[in-house]
Amino acid sequence: MTEHVRTEMTNGVLTLTLARPDKKNALTDAMYGKLADTIEGAETDPSVRVLLIRGEGDMFTAGNDVGEFAAVATGKSEGSRNVIRFIQSLARCTRPLVAAVQGRAVGVGTTMLLHCDLVVLADDALLSTPFVSLALVPEAASSLLMPLRIGHVRAYEMFALGEAVPAKTALEWGLANRVVALDKLDAEAAALAQRLARQPAGALIATKRLMRNGEALVAQMTAESEQFAQRLRTAEAREAFMAFAERRPPDFTKVS
Ligand code: COA
Repeated sequence: MTEHVRTEMTNGVLTLTLARPDKKNALTDAMYGKLADTIEGAETDPSVRVLLIRGEGDMFTAGNDVGEFAAVATGKSEGSRNVIRFIQSLARCTRPLVAAVQGRAVGVGTTMLLHCDLVVLADDALLSTPFVSLALVPEAASSLLMPLRIGHVRAYEMFALGEAVPAKTALEWGLANRVVALDKLDAEAAALAQRLARQPAGALIATKRLMRNGEALVAQMTAESEQFAQRLRTAEAREAFMAFAERRPPDFTKVS
């Protein structure tokens, strides 16, 4: 539901809050839709100088709603219409994107950070991309951006083994700008966003354009999405989502 994403504008900073804390801010099609509408809308609104993404509760986000994945895997749904729009809006966003991350950032929760220009982590943050553990493949151009950012072997381990990376390591690897105490997270991220909002907006936009090729990222996303959609409909994926629903470890050895 769209109330699971709240937006608020303060002095040129548009804050997007993931607000589904009882489900660890797991992202539904409706939430992706509201996020995409807001990020796309900011492009034509000169009053928006910076976007800040944060999550309510003890976790940034547990990633894509696994129930919605399961519905696709079992043929009950065609899948999210809005996730593609959301990740493409991130790739094409010309405004500075700031993220404030506490607790877990799973799947797209971590891969969206690769599109953010400043990332502030709370000291309890844990970043993970367990796509392969769910019988899926990396998305949001992370198959390109993650190895570029942290190197192939670290990226491969994150993707293939789904290991969570703690805040301090994420900082060392260049996945974040700062690690702060949890109770300072929102203030630190808001202060950085406000500093950016006071910088000349045109120069910020031109700088970001020089640093990121949005259309190349969208092309990578398209290649990933094809694989992702195929993998979602495999027996491996059905086992992964059934195991999550039944709160047991998956057993891929029995799936051919
Ligand atoms: N999709 C849908 N619901 C989710 C969810 C997700 N990605 N992540 C958590 N939830 C729900 C749980 O089902 C639970 O719902 P319930 O209270 O109705 O049973 C609630 O959120 C709380 O989650 P819980 O697992 O009890 O919290 P936890 O603190 O023990 O563990 C996680 C948190 C994130 C480690 C764990 O929920 C998890 O592994 N989630 C799946 C992450 C994932 O694989 N995402 C997809 C990435 S591509």
